[in-house]
Amino acid sequence: MPKALKVLAIETSCDETAVCLLSASKTKVNVEHDLVSSQIPIHQKYGGVVPEVAARSHVAETVSLLMQVLGTKGLKAFDAIAVTSGPGLATALRVGIEAGRVLAMLTGKPIVGVNHLEGHLASAWLNTENRKHWKFPMLALIVSGGHTELVLMNAQCKYRIVGQTRDDAAGEAFDKSAKLMGLPYPGGPHIAKLALEGDAKAFDLPRPMMNDGSLDFSFSGLKTAVRQTWEGWPIATEVLREKAKRDLAASVQQAIVDVLVAKTLTAAKKYKVKGVLLVGGVSANALLRETLGAALQEQLPTVTYMPSDKAYITDNAAMIAAAGYWRLTKGEKHDWKKIEAKPEWNI
Ligand code: KG4
Ligand code: ZN
Repeated sequence: MPKALKVLAIETSCDETAVCLLSASKTKVNVEHDLVSSQIPIHQKYGGVVPEVAARSHVAETVSLLMQVLGTKGLKAFDAIAVTSGPGLATALRVGIEAGRVLAMLTGKPIVGVNHLEGHLASAWLNTENRKHWKFPMLALIVSGGHTELVLMNAQCKYRIVGQTRDDAAGEAFDKSAKLMGLPYPGGPHIAKLALEGDAKAFDLPRPMMNDGSLDFSFSGLKTAVRQTWEGWPIATEVLREKAKRDLAASVQQAIVDVLVAKTLTAAKKYKVKGVLLVGGVSANALLRETLGAALQEQLPTVTYMPSDKAYITDNAAMIAAAGYWRLTKGEKHDWKKIEAKPEWNI
């Protein structure tokens, strides 16, 4: 039996404090402890993430989560450390990094700084079925609050960004549209819920850059169209306005999903990939999950569709531990004295 490596991971890049203990070997991956403390209720009253508030909250939560995960085994519970070092909010990232550095200094165990986006890619690998089909080249659609990227994966830890947003991320398009419509932060899940009872054809919203032949995205025009539609809507009666809200939610969601699916299919064909990953917060969207799966099934039936499990979609430390495991097994380790926050680090 190959010995499993126990990786302790810390994630504090945005508005979730997360700590995980993952045991992984060539044949088995087991998430032993996985704790996430979400700050969403704290930031909701500001309508978005406030970096200084996020950092303070990470300070309070990180030690508490570490104590719960390490339990009675303490510093003996893990063999190596993985910590998110970017991209993200600088002050927030530093909290997790400092905790990781102290643990590495005290134990002398290896530490790796992990890219948060590589973590999102690894979230798909946490699924047993997906791991069985892990064959390169693969394409990943990363869709979150800050990122919309099509990443070509030619080998383990070898990436090339083949498409990205020129302005807003897909999650931002959801969140900003929701804000314009008076919905709480983060707006994506609220739009998805309202859309269940709306008519996606009610409003003819733009599908920016959908047929321009490129693999890049642009969502800021959509936000403007939502503003104009919503503000121009006559306040006839409350009932009509509520219906318009549901229809607009459904129309926005459909527009975003149409663009994401079209570009992903184009890229999958262009690069003749064997699998397509769908990861990041927006991949929680049921319409996106279903539409992409159905489109692949119809147009590229030999390509394996690999969305990440619902449990690992939003920010978590299990995905950071998994990416850390990839790096550590490639022989990578970093000097704890030199690990720094890299707020703009791309994959
Ligand atoms: O990956 P994530 O948790 O954090 C970042 O790294 O940004 O993604 C958060 C984003 C938010 O924009 C949120 O509105 C969006 O994911 N989101 C959704 C849904 N659930 C979360 N967007 C659309 N539909 C959903 N069901
Ligand atoms: Zn994320």
